[in-house]
Amino acid sequence: MDDFKEFDSFVTSNIKKLGQSEECKRLSKEWLSATGANNYSFNFQWMGMPVLQQPVDLIALQEIIWNIKPDLIVETGVARGGSVIFYASLLEMMGIDGDVIGIDIDIRPHNFARIMQHPMKKRITLLEGSSTSDRIVEKVKAVAAHKERVLIIFDSNHTHEHVLQELNLYTPFVTKGSYCIVFDTIIEDLAKENDYSDRPWGKGNNPKTAVWEFLKNNSNFEIDKNLEDKLQTTICSDGYLKRIS
Ligand SMILES: C[S@@+](CC[C@H](N)C(=O)[O-])C[C@H]1O[C@@H](n2cnc3c(N)ncnc32)[C@H](O)[C@@H]1O
Repeated sequence: MDDFKEFDSFVTSNIKKLGQSEECKRLSKEWLSATGANNYSFNFQWMGMPVLQQPVDLIALQEIIWNIKPDLIVETGVARGGSVIFYASLLEMMGIDGDVIGIDIDIRPHNFARIMQHPMKKRITLLEGSSTSDRIVEKVKAVAAHKERVLIIFDSNHTHEHVLQELNLYTPFVTKGSYCIVFDTIIEDLAKENDYSDRPWGKGNNPKTAVWEFLKNNSNFEIDKNLEDKLQTTICSDGYLKRIS
């Protein structure tokens, strides 16, 4: 066995053991809860732009983008722009001829200006409006029709109803072998420990409950549990959906 394959099988067995460790699961949940209460995921930047994610999920996205080589990445929820800059920079660095569409209901002028002045701006199109509006979905549909490998990411309004609508509207664009990634599914697991009372979502009404409902009628997607076992402290548990058919 060559060294690369040997290391690969070592990592595979690591991940399997991690997936079986109740202690790692418990500690990951505790850690996510304690750091989430202190807005941990607001602390990071990518190329000078705030990116509101867990670093392990950014590494997972990097691995997915390298493996899939998407020629279109669509994200709902742009905020301060760090995530769209992250995807665009990876496409640029990896030499992938792809575009990024970022959708947000409220793109503040200063955020728009900073994204448009960024060195990675050339691959990015920003669309302002609700991700579930016909106008926005039609625009994405028109672009996706000319693409071969499409990756979709949801990080906008985290209510069950909104995410379920996003899943129904956007998953037809996801190409076989690619992913639909649903952020903040962790709300379902942390709702007892963390306070979401100032938000319209919480336990029983969040991205994870939307994923569960969507999967009841959509057998062409499955949860990539292996990725969760590997990441442990992901905020997307049950949210990495792979299109298998
Ligand atoms: C968690 S932030 C996005 C963070 C960003 N993806 C990042 O990683 O830096 C959520 C964003 O979703 C937007 N949003 C809320 N409801 C929306 C909707 N119906 N359609 C599109 N965007 C929405 C908000 O304006 C906010 O900027």
